[in-house]
Amino acid sequence: MNGPLKYSVLFVCLGNICRSPAAQAVMQRMVDERGLSDCFYIDSAGTGGYHIGDLPDKRMRVHARPRGYELTHRARRVQLSDFEDFDLIVGMDAANVSDLCDRAATIEQQDKVVMMGDYIRQYPHYDYVPDPYYEGSEGFELVLDLLEDACGNLLDSILQQNNISK
Ligand code: 4NP
Repeated sequence: MNGPLKYSVLFVCLGNICRSPAAQAVMQRMVDERGLSDCFYIDSAGTGGYHIGDLPDKRMRVHARPRGYELTHRARRVQLSDFEDFDLIVGMDAANVSDLCDRAATIEQQDKVVMMGDYIRQYPHYDYVPDPYYEGSEGFELVLDLLEDACGNLLDSILQQNNISK
């Protein structure tokens, strides 16, 4: 990236203990692997406040580990300053996107909100990342499959649109 500023991405789900901390870890590793760590700041948050301060859900951590992701994020709620601080805010499903748009203070802030489903390519039956909280193991594996697909496409899109290169 030209200049010292990092491009910042905030992943958002409901609880910030399943989908969005996983998305954060998947994206962070992609950024690291491409040698772009200095260009990006990646974080996650939840629209709900039920799990503030918690580690990611044990099931999410157990499914992420064999793929090489250690999930150490502590859950936090989306706050107003996030809409100023982040360049892009990525909701996992339509409810997340709708909640985020409601909370945005300006049209410019609303324009920062995008839907993770729009970057899913390899799983045409999914246009969102489904909440795995009440699902079994398959639900957590599906989340990781969808996130690995979507994060790659999202990263390509960010790099292209912002002329970011090493
Ligand atoms: P997440 O999953 O939004 O992917 O973190 C959930 C976690 C907790 C709850 C719902 C969804 N909950 O209702 O507590």
